[in-house]
Amino acid sequence: MAKIGDDLNRAAQFLKAGKLVAIPTETVYGLAADALKADAVAEIFRVKNRPSFDPLIIHLANADALDNYVKKVDETFVKLYAHFSPGPISYVLPKKAIIPDLVSAGHPTVAVRFPEHPSAQALLKMLDFPLAAPSANIFGRVSPTNAQNVADQLGNEIDYILDGGQCSVGLESTIIDLSTDKPKVLRLGGLSLEELEDCLGEKIDFTQNSSSNPKAPGMLSAHYSPGIPVVFGHLGENLKRVNRQRCGSISFCKSLAGIPAENQRILSPKGDLKEAAAKLFGSLRSFKALDIDLILAEEFPNEGLGRAINDRLKRASAT
Ligand code: TXA
Ligand code: MG
Repeated sequence: MAKIGDDLNRAAQFLKAGKLVAIPTETVYGLAADALKADAVAEIFRVKNRPSFDPLIIHLANADALDNYVKKVDETFVKLYAHFSPGPISYVLPKKAIIPDLVSAGHPTVAVRFPEHPSAQALLKMLDFPLAAPSANIFGRVSPTNAQNVADQLGNEIDYILDGGQCSVGLESTIIDLSTDKPKVLRLGGLSLEELEDCLGEKIDFTQNSSSNPKAPGMLSAHYSPGIPVVFGHLGENLKRVNRQRCGSISFCKSLAGIPAENQRILSPKGDLKEAAAKLFGSLRSFKALDIDLILAEEFPNEGLGRAINDRLKRASAT
């Protein structure tokens, strides 16, 4: 069973030895390994049961050594980096050959992120290589937002889980492709589209249906499964068709008539999308302990982090 602790030296030792360590970031916990060691990276795919066509994000403390790993960055990167990194954004950039093809799943690009979490920052500064780290969950399941979530799914497979408390953002990073002429968001996440657009002063394309996007083959529609069927959409209509006593619910700020109070997850009574985002994955996990047949999930306002919340709920509901 993996040890859970906050010993940065121990985490660094394992990583230098080519082992896997689960690490905290402000978005979700990552399952990390030396991104330059193909063997260690292969172990990530095995442990997660992740298909090899699904590329990984590499993590660095800052852009000081970025030149070693990517061919070039443009003005857009410089602007976005200055505004939002470290933070919940990943940049897809043309990769150098030092990044194993396994990391990028054969793509000529690599996704790079600079996490803000203090433990991730401190750990990355102790290492002279980037960390490849997908979310630390079994492929297709809900991403972990605390150390215990990681232990529950992967505890038997890894040596060490670096505990950095509860993730403050709670949604994976927003991924922006900067490898072509026009920036494009490939995955909505912890940084809103509006914030990106404000920074760049232009509208940015984003992928609506991530599963059909050949550039992000890992964004399959059936993902984030809580293990209980999820019905996503307008609650009023869906409520008419179900046995409310046997239902759980996820709603933004209001409670739902007829559903037992203990089965309801109201993500932000005060109507704050940030708070709702931080609670989303924990709420999806919490239904496992209940005797219910179905989870009804409300469609959130389609703005700010609401877009990313809807994306995750829609995918949790896909079969
Ligand atoms: O917040 C996050 O991004 C977390 C933390 C741990 O950093 N990581 C994360 O990784 O969510 P993961 O593996 O669950 O999702 C990575 C996704 C891939 O599924 C793929 O869609 C996209 O990033 N991606 C990675 N490299 C890419 C590339 N070269 N081109 C296009 N998409 C890429
Ligand atoms: Mg993931």
